[in-house]
Formats: sequence, structure tokens, C-alpha cells
Amino acid sequence: MGVKYKSERELKLLRDAGQIVGQTHQKIAEMIRPGLNILEIERFIAEEFARRGAIETFRNYSPAPKYPPYPSNVCISINDELVHGIPRDRVLQEGDIISIDLGATYQGYVGDAAFSYGVGEVSDDVKQLLKVTEDSLWAGIRAMGTAKYVNDICAAIEDAITPSGFGIVRGYGGHGVGRSMHEEPHVPNHRMPHHGPRVRPGMVLALEPMVNLGAADVEEADDGWTVVTKDGSLSCHFEHTIALRDGGEVEVLTLP
Ligand code: MF3
Ligand code: CO
Repeated sequence: MGVKYKSERELKLLRDAGQIVGQTHQKIAEMIRPGLNILEIERFIAEEFARRGAIETFRNYSPAPKYPPYPSNVCISINDELVHGIPRDRVLQEGDIISIDLGATYQGYVGDAAFSYGVGEVSDDVKQLLKVTEDSLWAGIRAMGTAKYVNDICAAIEDAITPSGFGIVRGYGGHGVGRSMHEEPHVPNHRMPHHGPRVRPGMVLALEPMVNLGAADVEEADDGWTVVTKDGSLSCHFEHTIALRDGGEVEVLTLP
């Protein structure tokens, strides 16, 4: 197995998928406000993907036998929910922090990205959590341009979060992306005990820092999917799918 380095032809297809994800996120961002029922986000994505001929990557996905098939096209995680929240009948409240994680498959290739938002006016803590997490994603993106090994990217993300004192979640992380949503390598948001595979042109990664306002510990809820913080603290998640091009330029495939 190992890492599948992509050709320029495959990068073009991955860009098409990434753009569908990025542009759909842009429209979702405009919907976020107190009073929005999150089921409207799920419905909007279904319409948008049908219109554009994209397949809902997340629907029925099961990464391992212990996971029931994922029942939606999107993960929506609110407040103490870190990732993999399942859309349900719930109305956004002023001060909530919401993460939207979306995947599209187009002509056989996948794009995967997540953004977090404050709903209405949020506390200064939430503003800082949003900023630190998004900045750490961009630190990882920049690091891909100079990294020799995947662990150099992991280290850059970790070092961007550490000064904040926020909890850096372990056990979940980024991944390779291609014809499947999850390819090798796994990309933790902290240093690994080994340097990981070589970063070379054609490598495509989803980087996805996950950060808690409180302690780093998380657990799975009873629905078999939703990951929540153990101490109930707020959490945040940003993700882009990125590629290293020939010549060393980093392209953010899911940036509209
Ligand atoms: N985008 C996520 C990831 O990278 C979540 C996918 S889980 C799913 O792992 F079940 F919803 F597909
Ligand atoms: Co992902």
C-alpha cells in the first residue's frame, strides 16, 4: 500500500472535487445565524451536490466495522462536540461554536474540508479558539512547502497550537486523500514518534487540526459517531485538502 503520489491529471480531478466542497462551504457560511435549524444545512448540501453531479462522500461511510454506516452527507458538531456530529433537529443559539465537515466525490475523486464558526456574538475565548485552530491549519499548509517528511507538517501544527495552552486532540487527525477519502498517511496534529513518509510532489493530504478550549481528552457518544470533549469544554475543527505540486508549490484544493 503506502502513499499514492498523484499525477497532474489526477490533481486536476482532485481540484474539481475540492472546488465543489469549498464553494458549497462558502454558501453554508452565509447561512450560519442564530435560529437556523441545522437540518437546513444538510438539505442545502443535498440540493447543491445533486445540481453539480457530486456524490455525497460521507453518506453510508464506515471506516471500520464498529462504526454504523454514516447517516448523512455532512458532519455538524456543536459546542462540546468535536467532530462527526450527526445532523438532527436542532436550532443554533447565539454564542454556539459550530463545525461543518463536508466531503464530495466527483468523477471518482474526493475533496474534504471543514470550517468552524461562531454563531452571532461569541465570547473572546471562542474567538481565540477559532483563530488558533485556523492559524494552525495554515501553519501546516505552509509547512508542506518546505517539509521533508510528514512529521515536519505535524510538528508545525503542534507548535502553532502549543502557546495557546488549548487541548490538542490525539487519536484523530488528517489523512491522505485520493479516490478514497482516507488514504495513507495518517497525519496527527502533534509530533509522531517517527518521521513518517517523504513529502514529494503529488502528495495530497487533508490536514485537520482539532483543538479544545479545555483538556485534550475526548470520548465517543452513544450514537457511535459523535466525538465529544470529556470535560464538556468547547472544541474547534478546521480542514483543507492540499496538494504539493511539481516545483514545490502548495495548492489548497478546497479553497474556493
Ligand atoms: N471529514 C472527516 C474525516 O476526515 C469525516 C468523515 S466521517 C464520515 O475523517 F463518516 F462522515 F464520513
Ligand atoms: Co478529513
